[in-house]
Amino acid sequence: MEFYDLLAEYYDLLFPPDTAVCAFLRDRFQDGRHLVDVGGGTGNYAVALSREGFRVTLLEPSAAMTERAQCKVAALPDQERARLGVMTAGFEQINALRPAQVHGVYCIGNTLAHLTEATAIREAIADTASLLPPGGVVLIQVLNFDRIPHAEPFELPTLTGAGGQVSATMRRRYLPASDPALVRFAVELEIRSAAGGVGAGDTHLLEREAHETVLRRIPSAFLSATLEEEGFTLSGFYGGFDGTPFDPEWSFVLIVEAVRAGRG
Ligand SMILES: C[S@@+](CC[C@H](N)C(=O)[O-])C[C@H]1O[C@@H](n2cnc3c(N)ncnc32)[C@H](O)[C@@H]1O
Repeated sequence: MEFYDLLAEYYDLLFPPDTAVCAFLRDRFQDGRHLVDVGGGTGNYAVALSREGFRVTLLEPSAAMTERAQCKVAALPDQERARLGVMTAGFEQINALRPAQVHGVYCIGNTLAHLTEATAIREAIADTASLLPPGGVVLIQVLNFDRIPHAEPFELPTLTGAGGQVSATMRRRYLPASDPALVRFAVELEIRSAAGGVGAGDTHLLEREAHETVLRRIPSAFLSATLEEEGFTLSGFYGGFDGTPFDPEWSFVLIVEAVRAGRG
């Protein structure tokens, strides 16, 4: 998990919690229930949902990311802290949560694409199905891979963020991989500091780093078919956390909501 260990320090500057995402998650799950946040990063959404009354278990394989999540949890008031658990583990270990009663699972931020084998994705979804009771909800958000070209680089919007005396800029590109089922995710991170804390023009470069990891392309048809084959009924297909419908040609992301089939 080296890639995210390296990005952890600047993650919250570049990916602060988004209120639309929080509201979308809150509206899809029932208050007070036990949710699992798979690949929950530094815990922003798990913390937000615990504030709303949910019990949340965060699974995150990067030790540097979970360390940051633990710090946020430690700073919470007792009642919220008691509702949150953090485990350094990946989707592949979701079965370790048994026999806990889990009512909903979400996996957002393109996390599922980090499972680079189709069989690993299928197993993760099958394990999620067996963890959830009938009626339990899974929500998965990945990039819209239907519109990402196989043979050319694809640039994602550059991210910027600032905190204290530091500003961070992240350029993100998807580059073709030799296996067309995969894509190389390349980031260039630039960290600047305000020299002596003066004006914005007065910054100097502190660090410039480039990192790369491999992701699996997850076409919408593959994700919906796998969910259905593993015992879910599709209940929502969105192109954004504002609830807009998914459009394979135009949407930036794909969010699939599905319900564990069977009698409740
Ligand atoms: C772009 S971040 C998204 C974090 C968080 N879900 C969010 O939306 O802010 C992707 C996360 O996936 C995690 N990840 C990578 N491989 C994973 C795996 N096999 N299982 C679960 N999470 C994984 C990374 O460590 C990283 O925290």
